[in-house]
Amino acid sequence: MRLLIDTDPAMGTLGGDPEDSFAIMLAVNSPDVNVEGITIVQGNVPAEKGYSNASHLLTLLDRKDIPLRRGCLRPLNLERAVQVRWLEQRYSAIQITEMLDPQGADADAVGFMVDLVLSNPEEITLLTIGPLTNVATAIVQSAGFAAAVKNIVMMGGTAACAGNISPAAEFNFWQDPEAADIVFNSGAPLTMVGLDVCHQTHLYPKDVDEAAKGGTALGQFVKEATAPWFQVMSGAGGSDALHLYDSLAAAAVMEPDIITTEDSHVAIETGNGPAQGMSVSHHKAFQRIVFQKPNINARVATGVNIERFNSLFQERVLNRIAGK
Ligand code: RIB
Ligand code: CA
Repeated sequence: MRLLIDTDPAMGTLGGDPEDSFAIMLAVNSPDVNVEGITIVQGNVPAEKGYSNASHLLTLLDRKDIPLRRGCLRPLNLERAVQVRWLEQRYSAIQITEMLDPQGADADAVGFMVDLVLSNPEEITLLTIGPLTNVATAIVQSAGFAAAVKNIVMMGGTAACAGNISPAAEFNFWQDPEAADIVFNSGAPLTMVGLDVCHQTHLYPKDVDEAAKGGTALGQFVKEATAPWFQVMSGAGGSDALHLYDSLAAAAVMEPDIITTEDSHVAIETGNGPAQGMSVSHHKAFQRIVFQKPNINARVATGVNIERFNSLFQERVLNRIAGK
């Protein structure tokens, strides 16, 4: 399994959603998976911070051999003032990893992504766990990219449930609706792992505390970096758990039958109204007939084997953080 991970990792920026980094650990610690590269996209945090966070994580994982590239700094449509403001507000967030300033090829994630996929046609699986800005740019820049990629497994959207960043939209699609629209209209093979199944995953502060007892540098970093987000979660009025959205998408790459999927036609709301970024999934056949959406453009996750996911996460992430 040859995997390229496109991500917006905030573990290392206090107050950001840290869970991309657990997905990276899951992939890196999975047998039979060769992580061919990690590309950084704007999202949870500005890509400048995401790149620095990913570099620090790879140092702690002793995997600086994995190519790391920084990608798009803004959503495709700069008129989306709220999404741009989201990023600008986060430049001032406290950074506990050293800020780096990649130059040249290290700041050309899209070029790296296109070269890797085109030189290895139908061999590279793309795991996208952030907004789709880098992937959409690759699709637009390279006519052959969508046909050459083996599969795109994405964390994003909703099949039938409410959104998270808004009542209608899931964050990754909301942060760049134009990018999501390009990807869903590209013809690339897509598996969409949305909130419907991701909201069934939970990581509690006690789970991190237990893993950190192993005394590893990684464990200490994870504990320090996740603490503010657990506070955000408990302050949000729900449980004090964070959801492992991206790790479930990663698990679906390693073990596709951990989720159940349905064929669907997914359309993205790219207007400027309150539903902007919403994914409208026509996974019921009669909907495709009524709305004359005959073409299937994605497989959409509608079920999850949560016990299998939890044991996989314990084995390949929490145990490794604990140094077991
Ligand atoms: O909506 C969940 C997604 O937004 C996840 O990828 C999370 O990391 C955030 O980027
Ligand atoms: Ca993410």
